[in-house]
Amino acid sequence: MKTVIYSFSGTGNSLAAAKKIAAALGETELVPIASLEDTAGSVLPAAERIGIVCPVYFSGLPLMVASFAERLEPGSAQYLFAVLTHGGGGESAALRQLDSILRQRKGRGLDAGFGVMMPGNYIMMYESPMGQKQQEILAKADEEIAAIAASVSRMEKVALPSSLINRILYMLIYPWFRSHARTDDKKFSVTDACISCGTCVEVCPAKNIGLVDKKPVWKHRCELCCSCIHTCPVKAIQAGARTEKWGRYRNPDVTVAELKMQKKDTS
Ligand SMILES: Cc1cc2nc3c(=O)[nH]c(=O)nc-3n(C[C@H](O)[C@H](O)[C@H](O)COP(=O)(O)O)c2cc1C
Repeated sequence: MKTVIYSFSGTGNSLAAAKKIAAALGETELVPIASLEDTAGSVLPAAERIGIVCPVYFSGLPLMVASFAERLEPGSAQYLFAVLTHGGGGESAALRQLDSILRQRKGRGLDAGFGVMMPGNYIMMYESPMGQKQQEILAKADEEIAAIAASVSRMEKVALPSSLINRILYMLIYPWFRSHARTDDKKFSVTDACISCGTCVEVCPAKNIGLVDKKPVWKHRCELCCSCIHTCPVKAIQAGARTEKWGRYRNPDVTVAELKMQKKDTS
C-alpha cells in the first residue's frame, strides 16, 4: 500500500519521526512541506495512506503546516493520520486544529492523531534538554514512534486526544504566535564568530535568511523553527543574551544535509 508522509521540521525531531514511520511502513514517499512552498494550488497525493508529521508550536500548528493543510486534497485516500512532536504538551489542540482545517475545507478529518514528546527546541525561551535527559526522552520517543508506526500500518482509527487546559492555552497563546511569528526574527542577531558559511540560509525551511556582507539577515517571514540558531556550526546566532550560554540541539538521527534538503533550492 502506497503512503505519502508530509513533514515539516526545524531541528529534526519531526523528520526523524517521519523517517522512522516511513521505514516501518515501506513503500512510503517522504515529502517535505517546505518543498511545496513554491508551488500553487491543491496538493493531490497519489496514495492510499496520507500522513502529516510536524512539531507543535504554541499549542497549535506551524504556520506553514496550517497553510499546507488548507491545500491538501485527501481525495480517495483510505487513511489520514498525523503525528505531532512536542516538548511536553500541546499536541491535542494542535491535532484538533489540523483536524478542523481538513474537516472545514475538505469535509474529511483525521482517522488517527498521535503526539510524541521529544526534546523541546524553543531556544527563545529555554535551553533544550542535554546529555542523559535528552537521551532518555529520545529513547522513550523511539518506543512511541514504533508503536505509532505499527498502529498506522494496521490503519487503526485513533481518537484525537482531548485536553481542556490545552484548548484554553491554544486560545490564549496561538493568536499571539500567528500574528508575531513572521517578524519575531527581529530578536535574532549574529556575533563576530560568524564564519559566513551560509548554513543558516540553507537550513531555513522558510527561505527567510539571506547573506548581506557575508552575514545572515532575516527577512521577516519566519516560521520561528529556530533551525538557524541550533544549526549554526559556531553558535554565532543568538536570540537575546541568554542563548550565548545555552547548548544547541539537533535530533541525532537527522543530518544537517537532510535539514537543508527540506526545500528545493536556497534562492
Ligand atoms: C516556536 C516554537 C513553539 C513551540 N511550542 C511548543 C508548545 O506549545 N508545546 C510543546 O510541547 N513544545 C513546543 N515547542 C517544542 C517543539 O514542538 C518540539 O521541540 C518539536 O519536537 C520540534 O520539532 P522539530 O525538531 O521537528 O522542529 C515549540 C518549539 C518552537 C520552535
